Amino acid sequence: MVKINENYLKLKAGYLFPEIARRVNAFATAHPDAPIIKLGIGDVTEPLPAACREAMTAAVAEMGDRTTFKGYGPEQGYLWLREKIAAQDFQARGCDVDASEIFISDGSKCDTGNILDIFGTGNAIAVTDPVYPVYVDTNVMAGHTGPANDQGEYGGLVYLPINAENDFTASIPTTKVDLIYLCFPNNPTGATATKAHLKAWVDYANAHGSIIFFDAAYEAFITDPEIPHSIYEIEGARTCAIEFRSFSKNAGFTGTRCALTVVPKSLKVQTSEGAEVALHSLWNRRQSTKFNGVSYIVQRGAEAVYSEAGQSQIKTLVNFYLENAQIIRNQLTAAGFAVYGGINAPYVWVKTPAGLSSWNFFDQLLEKVNVVGTPGSGFGAAGEGYFRISAFNSRANVEEAMARITAKFATV
Ligand code: MLT
Repeated sequence: MVKINENYLKLKAGYLFPEIARRVNAFATAHPDAPIIKLGIGDVTEPLPAACREAMTAAVAEMGDRTTFKGYGPEQGYLWLREKIAAQDFQARGCDVDASEIFISDGSKCDTGNILDIFGTGNAIAVTDPVYPVYVDTNVMAGHTGPANDQGEYGGLVYLPINAENDFTASIPTTKVDLIYLCFPNNPTGATATKAHLKAWVDYANAHGSIIFFDAAYEAFITDPEIPHSIYEIEGARTCAIEFRSFSKNAGFTGTRCALTVVPKSLKVQTSEGAEVALHSLWNRRQSTKFNGVSYIVQRGAEAVYSEAGQSQIKTLVNFYLENAQIIRNQLTAAGFAVYGGINAPYVWVKTPAGLSSWNFFDQLLEKVNVVGTPGSGFGAAGEGYFRISAFNSRANVEEAMARITAKFATV
């Protein structure tokens, strides 16, 4: 008899965003004229930067000429892209990251899930609550958890609550955890971490032989010069941290697909027999076996992000979404909502009004003002009573959505 991976049966309902899409589609089918505005999933809306488009167009032309045509590329990504990333994203910030430690991929979502391939079972795994659901669900799929309880918390995971009282930054655990997921600027709360906070995590990880998975997909939205963009700005991180980055949100590549993962060569763990193993070798082996690289055309588009024109264009794009976030923050605050995040991040984290549950507020927003957001409880039990609003949309849609929400739900 065929056996399936029964860990999948432990997963609660659908993945959050498809579940939202299902509910929105059902509403739209029943109300075909409803002018729905989507501020739910963090999907970009503005066109790709001209520098990226021009580079990709030139790359398409190269693919049409047998003298410049490219077949399989390096599984790790082309060196010309990795070198620019190393120089401009890391070395320019004082981070000791070499091009050979960078792996180009088709997405941080994929990489944060796939990285589990090189880790065994039996690790104590810490996630914040609320958290980007991919970290939890991929661990469930890999059989690293027990079943979920009524609150949707999986046995075997260590949940670190983040809330207004701790500025949405988790306390360092008092028990030993092996794998730690950190995301800053944070999805979903929009919170950021100080260097001191990250240093505490790095010190903890080095003291306990733990590994930090640092998701920096939203680092481009940091405007405060005191806030670190990379975990490698923190002394000691090269021996305890893997960093994930993406072109999705800074350069609008959500549909184009390009991201990167940094695995320092100094990151070593021990086998059960005490032999030292470099995680870089394992990840390189995994990628070389299961992945054939990102398309040449897309990598040329990503490379253009590092040109002078590209840098200026992505700054404009990021500033545009940050202004949207500012509008959301200002309007909701003036209407009496408690509002967090949205300053160095494209997500605004809002307390639901009148004690409504996250999904109740989702339903009311959809039905009464035709605006879609993301229920906080979809990110974990501690997200109950909160709601995430994404700044990724046109200015007109953001303004219209805020006008509708504040007209209907203002408490002051
Ligand atoms: C989100 O809305 O949380 C993002 O779209 C997640 C992602 O980039 O996968």
